[in-house]
Amino acid sequence: MIQEFMTQDHRECDNLYAPLEQAINAEDFEKALELFVPFRDAMLRHFAMEEEVLFPKLEEFIGGGEGPTYVMRMEHDQIRSIINQLGEAIEAKNCDKALGLGETFMIMTQQHNMKEEQVLYPMSERLPIDQEETLKKMKEV
Ligand SMILES: [Fe+2]
Ligand SMILES: [Fe+2]
Repeated sequence: MIQEFMTQDHRECDNLYAPLEQAINAEDFEKALELFVPFRDAMLRHFAMEEEVLFPKLEEFIGGGEGPTYVMRMEHDQIRSIINQLGEAIEAKNCDKALGLGETFMIMTQQHNMKEEQVLYPMSERLPIDQEETLKKMKEV
């Protein structure tokens, strides 16, 4: 349930990024800026669902410390920083910089999402956490 919902949300974020990259490639910065806002908001909301609801729930069972959720939070910080810089590069109409940051964003996010989909989300389905309640809280973020 959690696995399916969050994996689908990864795909939706990817789908918001693809047309943004096309607009940057075409140096259509007005359109890029328009597409950047919903993309950024979807990414930030996805991270918030994990940091505010899912990870604390997992940490009740696996502990916090420097474990897997700690690593995921650090990667969120790195990706958020890339997204901010990408927004600045689009505003500055700097095509090369925006494309470079976009590539870094894609690589980091793909690796991050794979770890969640292969390790953390399956873990959240195996642990005795209330799937429905957790999902409901995530959707409220
Ligand atoms: Fe994440
Ligand atoms: Fe995620």
